[in-house]
Amino acid sequence: MKILVTGGAGFIGGNFAHYMTNTYPNDNIVVLDALTYAGNLETLEPIMNKPNFKFVKGDIRDREFIYKLFDEEKFDVVVNFAAESHVDRSIENPGIFVETNVMGVQVLLDASLKYNVKRYHQVSTDEVYGDLPLDRKDLMFTEKTPLHTSSPYSASKASADLLTLAYYRTYKLPVTISRCSNNYGPYHFPEKLIPLMISRALANESLPVYGKGENVRDWLHVHDHCTAIDLIIRKGKEGEVYNIGGHNERTNLEVVKTILKQLGKSEDLIHFVTDRPGHDLRYAIDPTKIETELGWKPVYNFDTGIKQTIDWYLNNKSWWENIISGEYQEYYAKMYKNRQ
Ligand code: NAD
Ligand code: DAU
Repeated sequence: MKILVTGGAGFIGGNFAHYMTNTYPNDNIVVLDALTYAGNLETLEPIMNKPNFKFVKGDIRDREFIYKLFDEEKFDVVVNFAAESHVDRSIENPGIFVETNVMGVQVLLDASLKYNVKRYHQVSTDEVYGDLPLDRKDLMFTEKTPLHTSSPYSASKASADLLTLAYYRTYKLPVTISRCSNNYGPYHFPEKLIPLMISRALANESLPVYGKGENVRDWLHVHDHCTAIDLIIRKGKEGEVYNIGGHNERTNLEVVKTILKQLGKSEDLIHFVTDRPGHDLRYAIDPTKIETELGWKPVYNFDTGIKQTIDWYLNNKSWWENIISGEYQEYYAKMYKNRQ
C-alpha cells in the first residue's frame, strides 16, 4: 500500500509516520506537510532515510500542487492529520482554521475522488461534541452524540467531518473518521498543556493554569491513537465514525501536580490565570464501538504514559529547546500577557 500522511511533521502525524514506517516495511509512507510553526522535520529525522519513507513539502490548500502529487504517486490511502490544532490560537485568529481545516480538507477530498483513493481517513477530535458537565460522571461522548462546538477550532473540525461524510453519501468516496480525546507523548509541541508544563517546570518558571484548573480532559497516549487509526484504515467500515479514548480523565490541576511530583518540583510554581474564553468543561470518550467492532485496546494508562512522556522530554531536550528558543518566546509573551 502507498499511504499519504498529511501533517506528518506535526505531533500525532509524526508519531503515526514513525509507527507505520517501522511496522510495515512493505508499505510506502509519504508525509506531506507545509511545515507551519507546528511542523518540524527533526520529528521525522529517525525515519527520514528509511527506504519506505518519503517527505514532501506542500500545502493541502494548494489544489494544483495536490492534484499533481496524487496523479504522480497514486495513493491507496490518505490519512489527514494536517490542521491548525491549537484552541487558543483559533480564538486569536479563526481565519486560518477555516482555510486549513475546512478548505484544505475539501481539496484533499476532491483529489481523493479524482484519483480513486481507496480510503480517505479524516483525523477528527472529540471537541466536535462540545463539552460535558463536571458533575455528571455518567455521561460520555458516543458516536451518536450531536455535534455542538465551542471554539473556532472545534467548529472548523466539525465542518470538515460533515464535508467528509457528505463526500461519502453523495459521491461514494470511501471515507472513515476518527474522533480522539486529548493526546500526549513524544514530539508534542510545547504550546499544549502537558509539554508546556514539563518544559516550564524544568526551567523553574510559573505554570499558567486556566481558571481553577478543574476542567477535565480524557488523556490518550499518542501510540494508542496511532494503533487505532491503523486498525480503522485496514478494518474500519466505510462511512463510519469511530471514537478513540482510553478512560483516563484527569482535571488539569491533577495533570500539572503529577508532572511536578515526577520532576521533583514544588507546587508553588502553579499560577492560576484568566480562563480560556468558552473553555470546554469536560471531555470523556466512550470507546465501546472501536473496542467491540475492531478489537482495539490501548496499551498505556495515564500513569505509565505520563512517566514515559516525561522521560522522553528529559532525554530529548534538544528537540524542544530548539523550538522554545525562537519565535515561540514571542508567542508565549503575546498569548499569556493578558492572563495574569
Ligand atoms: P500539530 O499542530 O502538532 O500538527 C499539525 C501539522 O499539520 C503540522 O506539522 C503542520 O505543519 C501541518 N499543517 C498545518 N497546516 C497545513 C497545511 N495547510 N498543509 C499541510 N500541512 C499543514 O497537530 P496534532 O496535535 O498533531 O494534531 C493532528 C490532527 O489530530 C489534527 O487534525 C487535530 O485536529 C487532530 N487531533 C489532535 C488531538 C490532540 O490532542 N493533539 C486530539 C484529537 C485530534
Ligand atoms: O480533545 C482533543 C483536543 O485536545 C485536540 O482536538 C486539540 O487539537 C488539542 O490541542 C487538545 O485541545 P485542548 O484545548 O484540550 O488542549 P490544550 O493542551 O490546549 O489544553 C488542555 C487543557 O489545559 C484545557 O482545559 C486548557 C488547559 N490549559 C492549557 C494551556 C495551554 C491550561 O490550563 N493552561 C495552559 O497554558
